[in-house]
Amino acid sequence: MFQVQLFSFFLIITGFLTQEWSMTLPYVVNGTKGGDVVLPCTFTHPQQQNYSKNITVKWIAKGFDNETIFQCKVNNFTDQGLNECWIPDQSIHFSLKGDPKRRDLSLLIRDLVITDSGKYFCKVELNYFYGSTAVWQNINGTQLNVMAKAQVISLSRVEASPGPGNVSLMCVVKGNPRPTITWLSSNGPVDIDVITRESPLFQWESSIPYFSQDVYTCRAENSLGMVEKQFPPGPSALAITLYVHRVLLLVLPLGAVLFCLKKRGYLRCNSDKSQHHSVSTTSPATGIF
Ligand SMILES: *[C@@H]1O[C@H](CO)[C@@H](O)[C@H](O)[C@H]1NC(C)=O
Ligand SMILES: *[C@@H]1O[C@H](CO)[C@@H](O)[C@H](O)[C@H]1NC(C)=O
Ligand SMILES: *[C@@H]1O[C@H](CO)[C@@H](O)[C@H](O)[C@H]1NC(C)=O
Ligand SMILES: *[C@@H]1O[C@H](CO)[C@@H](O)[C@H](O)[C@H]1NC(C)=O
Ligand SMILES: *[C@@H]1O[C@H](CO)[C@@H](O)[C@H](O)[C@H]1NC(C)=O
Ligand SMILES: *[C@@H]1O[C@H](CO)[C@@H](O)[C@H](O)[C@H]1NC(C)=O
Ligand SMILES: *[C@@H]1O[C@H](CO)[C@@H](O)[C@H](O)[C@H]1NC(C)=O
Repeated sequence: MFQVQLFSFFLIITGFLTQEWSMTLPYVVNGTKGGDVVLPCTFTHPQQQNYSKNITVKWIAKGFDNETIFQCKVNNFTDQGLNECWIPDQSIHFSLKGDPKRRDLSLLIRDLVITDSGKYFCKVELNYFYGSTAVWQNINGTQLNVMAKAQVISLSRVEASPGPGNVSLMCVVKGNPRPTITWLSSNGPVDIDVITRESPLFQWESSIPYFSQDVYTCRAENSLGMVEKQFPPGPSALAITLYVHRVLLLVLPLGAVLFCLKKRGYLRCNSDKSQHHSVSTTSPATGIF
């Protein structure tokens, strides 16, 4: 176990070591977007039986030497709680779950967002002899993975330059694990070149050439779910229901009128013609196979 230890000579000089420096934290913690997560971190140190000075807790994100995202101090000789806390930006987002006096530095992260994913490092600073500060930070840190259901951020027409053949459809999806992107078209499978590239923040872009007579679907799927978006945006199920409802309102009175006319012998129904019509509409479909 290699650990960062600035004052290792203490262990040799003082001689009364009953406990060694150590830090215990998991390699990986998984969370879910919108949920809460605790990053556990506990430590031991040589003077822990009677250490009665300040304890400074720091949490560092995304890199061993990166900025501190959370910092608090507590005096181990008073009943006082945390003081001199410094939590940039979102004070509700990060808070201390553990009790540093009991050598527990665990961090609570509330309302996770996908970009909270990354490495987290806990760090403790103690006032050892003569104003010197003992600093301890685990070198590996904890990898936080925030899982999120696949989502289609946008599906839009992109015109590279004027003229035919230069219009494409761009689908931007987001999710963790990385969503797979599938294109579907009203004109059969999309087997032309699909360009997929990662854009930052767990987003991926995919574009295909666009031909205006077709209806396209962009499907994003990962282990947490599947979602689709259509272009041009089709009428929603509700809109279709309303439309059918309106058509029925028009057709029903008309049907009643036709029925009356037929009964009186003014109208004849040509059943042969209607049958022929239905056959002709199915023939293009069979032509596909
Ligand atoms: C860091 O991780 C490596 C392997 O991933 C492991 O061998 C080593 O013991 C770890 N160090 C600490 C201090 O946890
Ligand atoms: C975290 O999720 C990954 C899959 O994304 C899984 O392999 C791993 O076992 C999970 N780890 C924990 C601690 O749940
Ligand atoms: C704080 O003091 C208590 C009681 O003396 C002790 O058990 C504990 O280990 C101390 N905390 C630290 C971080 O040394
Ligand atoms: C802390 O306790 C140890 C014995 O466990 C003792 O040798 C040492 O002098 C004590 N330190 C202080 C500052 O009281
Ligand atoms: C401990 O913290 C207090 C404020 O909380 C500060 O006044 C004091 O100087 C600190 N002690 C050391 C040794 O840094
Ligand atoms: C430090 O964190 C920021 C985000 O908080 C990240 O963009 C940057 O890459 C990190 N730097 C290092 C050296 O890891
Ligand atoms: C498509 O755009 C390229 C440059 O991006 C241009 O050279 C080409 O002439 C354009 N094609 C058409 C059909 O407009």
